[in-house]
Order: sequence, then C-alpha cells, then structure tokens
Amino acid sequence: MIFYFSGTGNSKWVAEQIASCQKTKLMPIGDEINTSCSYHLEPGELLGFVFPVYSWGPPQIVLDFIDKVKVDTLDGRPDYLFFACTCGDDVGYTDRVMKSAFERKGWRLDSCFSVQMPNTYVLLPFFDVDSHDLEQSKLRKAVKKVARINTILGARSNSFALLVTSVPWIKTYLIRPLFNLSLKKVDSKYWVTDDCIECGLCAKACPVHNVEMKNGKPAWKCDGSCVGCLGCYHRCPKHAIQNGKITLKRGQYYHKQN
Ligand SMILES: Cc1cc2nc3c(=O)[nH]c(=O)nc-3n(C[C@H](O)[C@H](O)[C@H](O)COP(=O)(O)O)c2cc1C
Ligand code: SF4
Ligand code: SF4
Repeated sequence: MIFYFSGTGNSKWVAEQIASCQKTKLMPIGDEINTSCSYHLEPGELLGFVFPVYSWGPPQIVLDFIDKVKVDTLDGRPDYLFFACTCGDDVGYTDRVMKSAFERKGWRLDSCFSVQMPNTYVLLPFFDVDSHDLEQSKLRKAVKKVARINTILGARSNSFALLVTSVPWIKTYLIRPLFNLSLKKVDSKYWVTDDCIECGLCAKACPVHNVEMKNGKPAWKCDGSCVGCLGCYHRCPKHAIQNGKITLKRGQYYHKQN
C-alpha cells in the first residue's frame, strides 16, 4: 500500500509508477487524513510513503498522517517500510525526520529514495521553475531512477542513498521550522487576474480541497488547511493565479501526466 502527497504531480507520478509495478494500492494522503487512517495489510505487503520535499523535510501533512496511521498486522508494524521523496535540488536531512516519525510508532525503515524532479517553489527571491531543458532532463532521469527503485522494492532489499548536498543540518533543523511558518499563510496572498477563464482546474488540483469555485472564480478557504504546495498556482492554464506580486514574473510547472 502506498500513501502519497503531491502538489504539482511529480510525487503522484512516482507513486503511480511504484504502485503499478509493485501491484499495490495507491492512496492520497490529502483525503485519507480525514478518515480513521486504519488499513489492512497482507502478510509481506510493502508500505510506502511518497511525497515532495518542502524546505529540506517532509511536508507537515505527511508527518501528521504518519502519526495517525494504523495497520492491522499482528504486531502493528509493516513487514517492509519505505519512503520515496521528490525534490528539485536536495533533501537535507529528510531521512532523519522520517526515521524519527517512524520510530515514534515503533516502525523500522527498510529503504528510502530521492528522485530529483522539476522545481516548483517560486515564492522567494531567486527561486523559480527550471529551464525547459533542465526540466526535461530531470524527467528523463527520473524514469530510470524509478525503475531502479522498483527493482530494489521488488527484491525487498535495503537502500538508503538520498540526494544530500551542503549543510543539511542547518537546512532541515534551522531554516525549515521558520519556512514552515510562512507556508501556513500562503493562501492568504492568492488573488486572481482577469485572465481567468473559469475552468476550475485550480480547485481540482488542490490536494486538500482548499480551493472553492465561487461565481466561476477560485476562492481560497484560508482556514488553515492550505499546505503551500502551489498546485493551484502552477495548474492554472492562464497564469491567472498570483501570490502577492512575486509570482507575476515566475514560471509555472505541472507534471503533464496529471
Ligand atoms: C513549498 C515548497 C518547498 C520546497 N522545498 C524544496 C527543498 O527544500 N528542496 C528541494 O530540492 N526542492 C524543494 N521544493 C521542490 C519540490 O520538492 C519538487 O519540485 C517536488 O518534486 C514537487 O513535488 P510535487 O509535484 O509532487 O508536489 C519545494 C517545493 C515547494 C512547493
Ligand atoms: S490552496 Fe494551498 S494546498 Fe491547495 S493547491 Fe493551493 S497552495 Fe496547494
Ligand atoms: S485554473 Fe486559472 S483559469 Fe482556471 S478557474 Fe482557476 S484561476 Fe481561473
């Protein structure tokens, strides 16, 4: 069974490739977190979490879901546990944060993977989507990387190689908590330009159903459920969604298979 979270489709694509190859169920965390979070696992069935890296760690919604989730094996632990994260650049100490979350449940991690994919964060100065060439190159390499992940998962072997670059401790344990505070307010800065064609794709893209269509235009609930994934911004075919002024000159990216 694979639980995934995805704002702009990269992690969803990875999760789908794994679920299809490993012949297992795929469940969206954005919906599942509002249920009892209790699941049946067959003996030997793998349990996996697939998500994007946000500020060198897992999104808070993924950690909240892991705290809640229960499986019905004899000892309450999965037989084989992995996570796969997607990132634009590097993952910091995402593995340490995830291992701590699993340890709190008495679960042991068997494998973890990172897949570099097109960048989606655009809300700070000097951050933007990748050039077309870099985007395509990352997508081509991701196909091969996911095939290798599937080989390891199929054999139920162990792998812990993640894409970590400079100063991971500072990124994950100093910058990330501050960054997470800013993520909570992302939806209060959204607005819509006159280019909106009332297609509703932004509302459909939101993994936590935080966008409602009112009189043909998107309206953000601003009730604390936004996770700052930027899915609504990137999905708009007219670049009609803006976040403050910073996105006026930023690019967009959305995984084409979503
Ligand atoms: C809020 C936010 C924070 C991000 N932080 C990081 C980061 O710390 N490191 C990184 O390499 N990529 C970062 N990214 C890029 C995403 O991890 C990457 O593009 C990912 O593949 C998006 O996955 P998705 O399409 O499933 O949402 C961030 C993206 C967003 C929206
Ligand atoms: S409203 Fe928030 S959670 Fe929903 S798609 Fe937009 S940024 Fe993501
Ligand atoms: S995706 Fe863009 S064009 Fe479509 S309804 Fe949303 S804001 Fe309007």
